[in-house]
Amino acid sequence: MKTKMGTHHSWFFIIVSLLHVSSCVSFTNFAFGDSIVDAGNNNYLPSLSRADYSPYGIDFTPSGGKPTGRYTNGFTIVDIVAQALGAKTLSSPSLSANAASHATLGGINYASGASGILEGTGSLFVGRLPLKTQIDNFELSRAGMVKTMGENGTQEFLKNAIFSLTIGSNDIITAFLPNLPFIGNYDVSPTTLLDIMVSNMTFHLKRLHKLGARKTVVVDIGPLGCIPFVRSIHFLPDGKCHEEMNALIRRYNQKLRTAVHGLNEEMGSGSVFVFANSYDVINGMLQNYRDYGFENVNDPCCGEFFPLSFCLRIGDENEISTNICDDRSKYLFWDSYHPGEAANFIIAQHMLNGDENTCSPLNVRQLHSLKL
Ligand SMILES: *[C@@H]1O[C@H](CO)[C@@H](O)[C@H](O)[C@H]1NC(C)=O
Ligand SMILES: *[C@@H]1O[C@H](CO)[C@@H](O)[C@H](O)[C@H]1NC(C)=O
Repeated sequence: MKTKMGTHHSWFFIIVSLLHVSSCVSFTNFAFGDSIVDAGNNNYLPSLSRADYSPYGIDFTPSGGKPTGRYTNGFTIVDIVAQALGAKTLSSPSLSANAASHATLGGINYASGASGILEGTGSLFVGRLPLKTQIDNFELSRAGMVKTMGENGTQEFLKNAIFSLTIGSNDIITAFLPNLPFIGNYDVSPTTLLDIMVSNMTFHLKRLHKLGARKTVVVDIGPLGCIPFVRSIHFLPDGKCHEEMNALIRRYNQKLRTAVHGLNEEMGSGSVFVFANSYDVINGMLQNYRDYGFENVNDPCCGEFFPLSFCLRIGDENEISTNICDDRSKYLFWDSYHPGEAANFIIAQHMLNGDENTCSPLNVRQLHSLKL
């Protein structure tokens, strides 16, 4: 009897320990990028690009529906991936006061609305953190980690963290802006622009690798030719996209994919760079939107389609319902630039669980559990 109880007890103990171990595979992420993944950094900048007002964040449960600086109605792709992989807290904006203490919890978010791979991108919006500055800020965070964990401890810690870069859209949009003084689009041929973007991106990825990143996800650029803002300034009717812009983006994504796979060969088996194909996922949603539960993929949920559609600040909570669409889950676009939470969930699921057409050489779930 006693032995039997003891046996039961040890089995129970083993099962509990296993559960304990698997729930303790910690998840930390360091996110870089633009407004698609900004978690509030621009709130701290003198920027014309901000999402720190209602109705932004209306479905963001951790804040009770209050705006946080996220450029969507609810969770961003980075938030959703982090939660799915067991993050204890969401990553903190790098410019917030508690960022340093979050480094070893959920991680830190360096992304900034209006920013690009290239330094000049987004200058129209004044305040923003270009990719180089975002990595400078990571280097500062890293110095703080070394103070508390030592150099070896920091390297060991960073080895298991997921780094992600979701950036490049604003470089393309800038290149397509009308050539007016002070707006400064890039005065180079499209092919040169793509090559400069990819070589700068490669440069930044190598710098992050040098700073200790070993699991890095590089997200490509979505079909921007189909976002309400671009369709609106080019007077494109429902269902029509700016095909020239989309073709340029596909060429960029192809070059980026080649560069990312090249880094895997160059850096060897101690690190993995994942190329994440958001273009095809979003394009699939646009083409077969009813299969994904959407009813409208032409208009933004917040803001009118025409003319220049901004999701405007709302003074009174009661006004909210008159300024946004009735059912936010039925719109692919939350505002004229950004997917809504419903679309972000679908994109995040593809990144987590997708096959090699979506994420190569591994998906993000496999990357997370990989033992380096
Ligand atoms: C750090 O790692 C290096 C190489 O693995 C080792 O030689 C050194 O003793 C370690 N330093 C500390 C403080 O543990
Ligand atoms: C990065 O882009 C700039 C243009 O913004 C270009 O002058 C520079 O050569 C690029 N750097 C790399 C490493 O490709």
